[in-house]
Amino acid sequence: MRYRIGVLVGSLRKGSFSRSVAEAMAELFPEQFDVEFLEIEQLPYFNQDFEEEGATPQSYLDFRKKVAACDGFLFATPEYNRSYPAVLKNALDVASRPYGASQWNGKPAAIVGVSPGQMGGFGASQHLRQTLSFLNLDLVQQPEAYIGNVGALLDDGGRLVNEGTRAFLQTVVDALVAKIRG
Ligand SMILES: Cc1cc2nc3c(=O)[nH]c(=O)nc-3n(C[C@H](O)[C@H](O)[C@H](O)COP(=O)(O)O)c2cc1C
Repeated sequence: MRYRIGVLVGSLRKGSFSRSVAEAMAELFPEQFDVEFLEIEQLPYFNQDFEEEGATPQSYLDFRKKVAACDGFLFATPEYNRSYPAVLKNALDVASRPYGASQWNGKPAAIVGVSPGQMGGFGASQHLRQTLSFLNLDLVQQPEAYIGNVGALLDDGGRLVNEGTRAFLQTVVDALVAKIRG
């Protein structure tokens, strides 16, 4: 049996710390897991008018299909003003529609908050947790993952160089894998 993980990164920045952490985590899944980054930059701002017959952007349809094909998700988010970035909320909204046909429903997911600051994106993670709970994702509750001072954990190329952090991230991945395998 093979499983598919969708990784969503709440930053569009070249050189994003959050993406670097997500890339390090992507390598920690067992062999039976295919890990795909689900890009969200191409999704127009959600507009409910798009739900009219024939008005749905192709990018929405493609994204929903990709989400539907996943068995679980990893969310790596930076913190913007003590919450998670709008681009990630937009993607969550897009795949939550049309009403009654959310693609997130019931699937396992883990959150990792990332920040160059001390608090490791705690505020972003908590807000994201609220939305994901409402969307009925089956969230990894423990361990919680707040990666602070992230700049010190990566080299100039964005590769994780702190082995203690890698070992911790492995425990997060393991908890997500256990949920998916049931
Ligand atoms: C609009 C904005 C708001 C921010 N607010 C916070 C914040 O509330 N907490 C925090 O730790 N960092 C905050 N930052 C700094 C980000 O943590 C930093 O830019 C980080 O590199 C973003 O993640 P990325 O590297 O994955 O793009 C903010 C940055 C921006 C652009």
